[in-house]
Amino acid sequence: MGIQISPSILSADFARLDAELGRIATADWAHVDVMDNHFVPNLTLGLPVVEALAKVSPVPIDCHLMIEDPDRWAPAYAEAGAQSVTFHLEAAAAPVRLARELRTRGARAGVALKPATPVSAVADVLTEVDMLLVMTVEPGFGGQAFLDVCLPKIRQAREAVRSSGLDVWVQVDGGVSATTIERCAEAGADVFVAGSAVYGAPDAAAEITRLRELASA
Ligand code: DX5
Ligand code: ZN
Repeated sequence: MGIQISPSILSADFARLDAELGRIATADWAHVDVMDNHFVPNLTLGLPVVEALAKVSPVPIDCHLMIEDPDRWAPAYAEAGAQSVTFHLEAAAAPVRLARELRTRGARAGVALKPATPVSAVADVLTEVDMLLVMTVEPGFGGQAFLDVCLPKIRQAREAVRSSGLDVWVQVDGGVSATTIERCAEAGADVFVAGSAVYGAPDAAAEITRLRELASA
């Protein structure tokens, strides 16, 4: 699949989400961060908003669920039209069953790891998912500084995928920008979430192109 860019609308203007999605029409995905104020100390948006966004988005929705009890809620996001649904391993009671359920509903299934969760924790789930998300900040807020200590983990994630022979994408999320994306790509990531870097740029499309070029170099 190659390099993919998934701008996070967390840094977009929430009063004009339709137009803000239009700014990233040249991206591969629109990353939508769902937070419940329990799994992370922040609250964003939920099912009805994702459903509305999926109807108007020029690119597929890459839904990142930072919520408790994803076993109960995640499948509804697939039903709502998100083409990719990622849940946190730390929050899931039965991650294998949940990943299968997401795929049954026609979505790509993703599993995410907080910075402190080792790649080894996901071993049993890897065969059941389409994407492994390595968080490079503590989940909860946009605009945080990239955690360099997570770079070896990106490498381990890529190695786990490579040695399993599976076609699982490795996504990075948090502090990804023109100054950090090359290191992430070099470590083995292939899907890049960028919120403040893309939406904070005067020309979002130009920034997407720049990030793609840097990651491909
Ligand atoms: C943080 C979210 C990220 C966030 C990234 O918990 O999961 O998707 O929007 O924002 P930046 O790219 O600004 O670090
Ligand atoms: Zn995210």
